[in-house]
Amino acid sequence: MADKFDVKLVEEAKYYSPPPEYREKAYVRDYEKTYQAFLKDPEKFWDGIARELHWFAPWKKVLDWNYPYAKWFVDGKLNITYNCLDRHVYNHRKNKVAFIWRGENGEERIYTYHKLYQETMRFANGLKRLGVGKGDRVCIYMPMIPEQMVAMLACARIGAVHSVVFGGFGATALNYRINDAEAKVVITADIAFRRGKTIPLKTLVEEAIINAPTVERVVVLRRKEPKVEIHSGIEIDFYDLMEGVEPICPPEVMDAEDPLYVLYTSGSTGAPKGVIHTCGGYMVGTYYTQKAVFDLKEDDIYWCTADVGWVTGHSYILYGPLAAGATIFFGEVVPDFPDAGAFWKLVQEVGITIFYTAPTAIRMFMKMGEQWPNKYNLSSLRILGSVGEPLNPEAFEWYYRVIGKSKIPIVDTWWQTETGMQMITTFVGEKMRPGFAGKGIPGVIPDVVDKHGKPVKPNTLGFLVIRNPWPAMLRTVLKNDERYRKYWETIPDCYSAGDLAVKGKDGYIMILGRADDIIIVSGHNIGTAEVESALVSHQSVAEAAVIGKPDPMKGNLIKAFVILKLGQTPSEKMTHDLTYHVRMTIGPIAMPSEIEYVDKLPKTRSGKIMRRVLKAKELGMDLGDISTLEE
Ligand code: WTA
Repeated sequence: MADKFDVKLVEEAKYYSPPPEYREKAYVRDYEKTYQAFLKDPEKFWDGIARELHWFAPWKKVLDWNYPYAKWFVDGKLNITYNCLDRHVYNHRKNKVAFIWRGENGEERIYTYHKLYQETMRFANGLKRLGVGKGDRVCIYMPMIPEQMVAMLACARIGAVHSVVFGGFGATALNYRINDAEAKVVITADIAFRRGKTIPLKTLVEEAIINAPTVERVVVLRRKEPKVEIHSGIEIDFYDLMEGVEPICPPEVMDAEDPLYVLYTSGSTGAPKGVIHTCGGYMVGTYYTQKAVFDLKEDDIYWCTADVGWVTGHSYILYGPLAAGATIFFGEVVPDFPDAGAFWKLVQEVGITIFYTAPTAIRMFMKMGEQWPNKYNLSSLRILGSVGEPLNPEAFEWYYRVIGKSKIPIVDTWWQTETGMQMITTFVGEKMRPGFAGKGIPGVIPDVVDKHGKPVKPNTLGFLVIRNPWPAMLRTVLKNDERYRKYWETIPDCYSAGDLAVKGKDGYIMILGRADDIIIVSGHNIGTAEVESALVSHQSVAEAAVIGKPDPMKGNLIKAFVILKLGQTPSEKMTHDLTYHVRMTIGPIAMPSEIEYVDKLPKTRSGKIMRRVLKAKELGMDLGDISTLEE
């Protein structure tokens, strides 16, 4: 539900222009011209981009569109790791740095493309040793370290489908994802580091695989000294697995439409959805946007602060940047440890040129104060990016002025787990409009419509849709194709994003937030249903309903309304127990910030909880705008 719809802001039309050299030197010099070229012949547009990459066999047709099912680069054969590794190693990028990694305590590890290539092949051969092959699912539950990337690439090398689970999820959430994907192998580490503390990943895996019949082996990266014991039989050490294997692992020849990975995202009803991305189209879409949106140059040092457990990490830490041959910085680091200057110190020391983060982080930086970034030399930066939730105008202004020194373009990129690639933004040479992400990326036709698919008037609230198929789009939802069709059937003839948006008279699009029961907390996607079912699984709870409550820092907080079972009474201890229970079941990101005890919940006649009513009451709003949109 949109929390604020500020007509004044929409009508104000304030712009910032980047210095002219950005446009002159940009990969996409003329956005309008490029966009028109795409519109004139979409297949030719994508064909040209796909040809920049390596294919074992060419495609017979760019797009086979059988609404709502798309096949891209039909019968084309490829391996994404060939494009991310071999292609560079056999050219001028052999000794180029692929990864610069930093740990919380300042330790640094550097991987050239050649080293990453070798490690990937060895680990891929290790996985083969465990009997993993094309089409098998592998769950990766690891900290943000180079081995996590190696594990993902190794899966892709041999055609296994990875399912990366964010390290912040707890055992129950992990168990669900392992079972739904029927993972054969789980790859983990003994611990992750966070703010000077350790998180026992392996212990959580042990719990998560108790009822996971498909899991045959667990690969454990042991970081702690002395090394933790591993259970022979089921567990095997990460580096032992690579011992004595063949150094070369030829890339598996994949069809363009073979699955590359599954990644879970919140469902508005029921269980998390396993979004399926394929090899060919996903590679082309992420490669293109990495180059076009970030205007990637050979000597850039690019940092996306996301976690690889989310789609942003998949597309814009790993596959997009590697396909484009970038030098990627990443770390097991947080913005406020050891102090609030942590990120800016890294920008200075590493010489970051492109910095991509989330609005929630920007708002946190604002709160911590300008003195922190001002302590460091940020002059290496040339492009700033934002993703994950609306970049509100105040945060835009701060980011632009304090970090960008009023001369660096900000690309506010709208996209989703389902879209696989960035879809809406403002290109680096174009004028920026605070509060507005921008226009469709060439290849994408977004619109703002009513529930019948008819465009709404400029400056009025509507649903965000995409009118055409694009290469990196999800192909289905694992074991739930009906849910997939719903994306294309909710609003006729287009992909329904589930977001509310406004299009200005200038064509720029402002995204206001979710139109459904997904809550974006600090840029993390959380389904009300998953939190509610965690609450109800507690012995004292009869019923629960969860809403998002706007918060100036985190975007939204989770508020729960709980009906206790007969004989149970509300207390501070109860609130603490329930919060802790959610933490243990799903993870810290899903913990309610507030629990209110109630006797009944507003429901429809068919018994569906009306979260909108709860939310409207909570915020003292009337349902106005939105209820007329949806009836
Ligand atoms: C929100 C993250 C406004 C939106 C890549 C979307 C945004 C959901 C933006 C997807 C943005 C993402 N401006 N809102 N620039 N980017 N969103 O699947 O609500 O984790 O539907 O993918 O995040 O979140 P997901």
